[in-house]
Amino acid sequence: MTDNKLLHPVAAGRVTLRNNLALAPMAGITNAAFRILAAEGGAGLVVTEMVSAESLKYGNKKSFKMLELLPGEHPAAIQLFGADPASMALAAQAAERAGADIVDINAGCPVKKVRRSGAGAELMKTPALLGDIISRMVKSVKVPVSIKFRVGLTAGENLGPLLARVAEEAGASLITLHGRPASQFHTGPVDLDAMAAVAAAVKIPVFGNGGVENAAQARAMLEAGCAGVAVGRAAVFNPAVFAEIAAGLCGGAGEAVTAAARMRLFLRFLELNAGIYGEEHGLARARKLVGYWLKGLPGAAGARASFMRLKTLKEAEALLIQYTGGPGPL
Ligand SMILES: Cc1cc2nc3c(=O)[nH]c(=O)nc-3n(C[C@H](O)[C@H](O)[C@H](O)COP(=O)(O)O)c2cc1C
Repeated sequence: MTDNKLLHPVAAGRVTLRNNLALAPMAGITNAAFRILAAEGGAGLVVTEMVSAESLKYGNKKSFKMLELLPGEHPAAIQLFGADPASMALAAQAAERAGADIVDINAGCPVKKVRRSGAGAELMKTPALLGDIISRMVKSVKVPVSIKFRVGLTAGENLGPLLARVAEEAGASLITLHGRPASQFHTGPVDLDAMAAVAAAVKIPVFGNGGVENAAQARAMLEAGCAGVAVGRAAVFNPAVFAEIAAGLCGGAGEAVTAAARMRLFLRFLELNAGIYGEEHGLARARKLVGYWLKGLPGAAGARASFMRLKTLKEAEALLIQYTGGPGPL
């Protein structure tokens, strides 16, 4: 536990997070292996990829697999998406049975397919339905329910304070607020003023999200009134970013992680993936993410191409040692 004006534990209902830095949910990325890495890298809360409430209702095996949590990742939130209060309540119970410390609602996804089903950011258009979903979920489980939404659907719009009050009244324990409108997907600046208005509108903690890569950016959100910060893409190639941000918030240098340390983390990610999915399947899954891990490093394109041909962890280790200028251990 840590206690500092900017970096501190946070209570989300009956769950106390050891710090106020969370891993943002990312479909295709925040699987169990990655969540363990983020927890080890200093995140006070990790969140699964979004899981479809309707798929759970119909017993979809792949969706149930996505609910599986491992010992090294708690506290962990399982994120659900859907637009039907009854299905969301059932899904919340399934998530609770799977060991979720918190059940999270996705009300910010801008993807067309999700919005067309009435879920994700589409829920921001219907505060009454959103309130109904939250209260049905809150009544169905003992664990806290949290929600993630955006400042608005289009630029300049701030639906946040209204939605935050609806969420609080319906019993939500934590809000993650993406400071970009849905129309901007994941690019462009965040609207800090709009975020400050949301944080001021409710008593429950509001975690700011969007574009945070370092302690200075985290500090700006915390000073705007956010109780915590959720980090997405900056954690993908460096799950130790949480510890870096924490050090920076405590007045330390918050030094960027070295290339060798990043590769060591990548190797640990590959080992965790292999342990969960088997060596071959684990490596195959990691291929989709290798671009993130090598981002900004010299010679990344060549190393990436070589990585695509690997079949075993041993080969991966050899490649990463060579890449970081071996021969010593990574
Ligand atoms: C590849 C990818 C997948 C994402 N999947 C989800 C998701 O499943 N649920 C969700 O609430 N947000 C999702 N997001 C949004 C992130 O949680 C986060 O709000 C966004 O990336 C902004 O934070 P960042 O700038 O720190 O990355 C996703 C973002 C990316 C880039």
